[in-house]
Amino acid sequence: MRPFLCVYGHVNLDHILRVAQLPERNTSVNVLGRKSFFGGTGANLATMASALEVPTALVSYVGRDLPPAFRELMSSHGVILDELVEVEGQETPVVWIVTDEREDQVAYVFQGAMADMASYPLRVQGAKEALAIHLMTGSPDYYLRLLTLPQMLRKRRSLDPAQEIHHVWDAERFNKALEYTDMFFCNRNELATALRYTGKEGPEELLGSFREMQVIINTLGAKGARIYTKNEILDVPAAKVQAIDPTGAGDAFRAGFYAGLYRGMGWLDCGLLGCSAASFAVSSPGSLTNVPGWEQVLERVESLK
Ligand SMILES: Nc1ncnc2c1ncn2[C@@H]1O[C@H](COP(=O)(O)OP(=O)(O)OP(=O)(O)O)[C@@H](O)[C@H]1O
Ligand SMILES: [Mg+2]
Repeated sequence: MRPFLCVYGHVNLDHILRVAQLPERNTSVNVLGRKSFFGGTGANLATMASALEVPTALVSYVGRDLPPAFRELMSSHGVILDELVEVEGQETPVVWIVTDEREDQVAYVFQGAMADMASYPLRVQGAKEALAIHLMTGSPDYYLRLLTLPQMLRKRRSLDPAQEIHHVWDAERFNKALEYTDMFFCNRNELATALRYTGKEGPEELLGSFREMQVIINTLGAKGARIYTKNEILDVPAAKVQAIDPTGAGDAFRAGFYAGLYRGMGWLDCGLLGCSAASFAVSSPGSLTNVPGWEQVLERVESLK
């Protein structure tokens, strides 16, 4: 099937450890609970968008050790995995997240097969076929090479580096990438870093400074999202749900958003679908343990209006 959307990002294993208190250096603590989940920005968005019936391809780099059940989870929802590359001699990325009773966290990120992404040849089969490409965590240099390909020019191109905007991207690469993108997704902190890199006062100024930029989608946790377009600012309320684990909420929001774009809806409806989809992710542990279908997401949108 021809994809509408082609997603670039991580496929990784998340190991969540609970401790009473984060340990001091050179000491150890008992682990009170541990859970493992399938995750990663790319896997999350591609799986959830596919579940919302958006034909979606995923480009990502993993190792031979990718659990068959993870691949099966993605393909069972319909993700096109022709460019999920198993890199010889490399391992699948892993993230260990340690959280204590005060909700303080430390994370250890093992990049595995994604570490050398900058040096890999571009994978462009899905991107060439798709109408939209969505660039998440991963190598800025790889993404800049992709964005500047002439074949990508007439597509919808989204930049969404998530937390990597702070420590993997830099001002020079970010400004360059914005010249070639028309949508920028970010949460509160990520927007602040984007403004610092671009030297802009606010999202309105940022939007006006890059010729291709059409929309900035800023998610605001329990406050929902704010969408900045060239002519208006749209506020989108979050769904009222009991938050259990925010992991993957941002990715679920994007899946809902694309489910709207795919069906030709306007920005506000896309945002409402985003908040609806995200509410399923926040009210369950991990990212892919409660993947909603289109009818469920659509039904919950009604309660937001
Ligand atoms: N407590 C909450 N209640 C309801 N919806 C929420 C809550 N927290 C987040 N959401 C939904 O999830 C969306 C994304 O959340 P947020 O802005 O926190 O993204 P994020 O920081 O990228 O999250 P993460 O990276 O942890 O997935 C919000 O726009 C909102 O729709
Ligand atoms: Mg996020």
